[in-house]
Amino acid sequence: MTVVTCIEDLRRMHRARAPKMFWDYCESGSWTEQTFRENTSDFAEIRLRQRVAVDMSNRTTATTMAGHEVTMPVALAPVGMTGMQHADGEILAARAAEKFGVPYTLSTMSICSIEDVAIRTSKPFWFQLYVMKDEDFVARTIARAKAAGCSALVLTLDLQILGQRHKDLKNGLSAPPKPTLRTLLDLATRWRWGLDMLGTPRRHFGNIVGHAKGVSDPASLMAWTSENFDPQLDWGKVARLKDQWGGRFILKGILDAEDARRAADVGADAIIVSNHGGRQLDGALSSIRVLPQIVAAVGDRTEVWLDSGIRSGQDVLKALALGARGTMIGRAYIYGLGAMGQAGVTKALEIIRRELDVTMALCGERDVKNLGRHNVLLPDGFLTRYA
Ligand code: GLV
Repeated sequence: MTVVTCIEDLRRMHRARAPKMFWDYCESGSWTEQTFRENTSDFAEIRLRQRVAVDMSNRTTATTMAGHEVTMPVALAPVGMTGMQHADGEILAARAAEKFGVPYTLSTMSICSIEDVAIRTSKPFWFQLYVMKDEDFVARTIARAKAAGCSALVLTLDLQILGQRHKDLKNGLSAPPKPTLRTLLDLATRWRWGLDMLGTPRRHFGNIVGHAKGVSDPASLMAWTSENFDPQLDWGKVARLKDQWGGRFILKGILDAEDARRAADVGADAIIVSNHGGRQLDGALSSIRVLPQIVAAVGDRTEVWLDSGIRSGQDVLKALALGARGTMIGRAYIYGLGAMGQAGVTKALEIIRRELDVTMALCGERDVKNLGRHNVLLPDGFLTRYA
């Protein structure tokens, strides 16, 4: 039995347990995967400033994110097909998050539906929306999220067209998997995953199947996005969606200072600096590299959070030191889920909190809210290399 001590352990376990099709979906970036790689390698370029002989008792990682109290500034990001990494994945991840005291964001492209997650959890979660051409479907989805008590709407702006991830095409990615010979052979070696999956009725896109009309292949993320996502989404529509929702409103997928200002003008409660985990525009800069200019562009008009590339508590600290008020993790908790279900998500959160806490202490800080530029050392040109 592996003693799990870091996110990398969970990553390896997830890889061994999940069918190749879903592991590949999780671990892919678009095209050459340059942005996917740089999301993590750019974090590794940043160094921490050690301080000593500072009282490190009574430390706290607690703070708020868009008015929500959190035990650490790390929310679970929306991740499509989470319920294919582990049976009932969205319900399990949401339960782990609520017990831990951090927000959970349910993706539009989830397997478990909004209602299913709401009945099986006891605290409000956030809902992530993709904007579809069918305005009726969008209105109904927003109404469903409201009725389920979701406490924030997270609107994703960087995926009106799906970035190409080669492996998904080669694997014929779908939920549930189609019974081809290749898939069946793969599933035969993933029997624990399969047994759990046989024990649940949740194997389709739960927010789509039974809710949307005229879908040519409701099992295919690729078909669904290319046929239904609204390519005309613009700032006017964003503002209208904010009014339609009427509650806390968060914009995800900002990677440019000018766009960040537009997002603040719309009145977003928070913006998420993100390149979708390197899954959309290959060749875009990493989130951590653009974070400081975005923070400078919006000042305190809105909260700025960072998503894409976080695999440790040290990374969380680096993001906070460069001006983020909060962070989101995607793969880091999905590895835990794929490895061991709810307990694995809890484990991922515990690992990250412990790393954040100890790193904070060794940097001479006691309160996560006091972290700043003084805690990190950047290599020459880190912020100015790409202009
Ligand atoms: C969907 O959100 C994806 O990145 O596949």
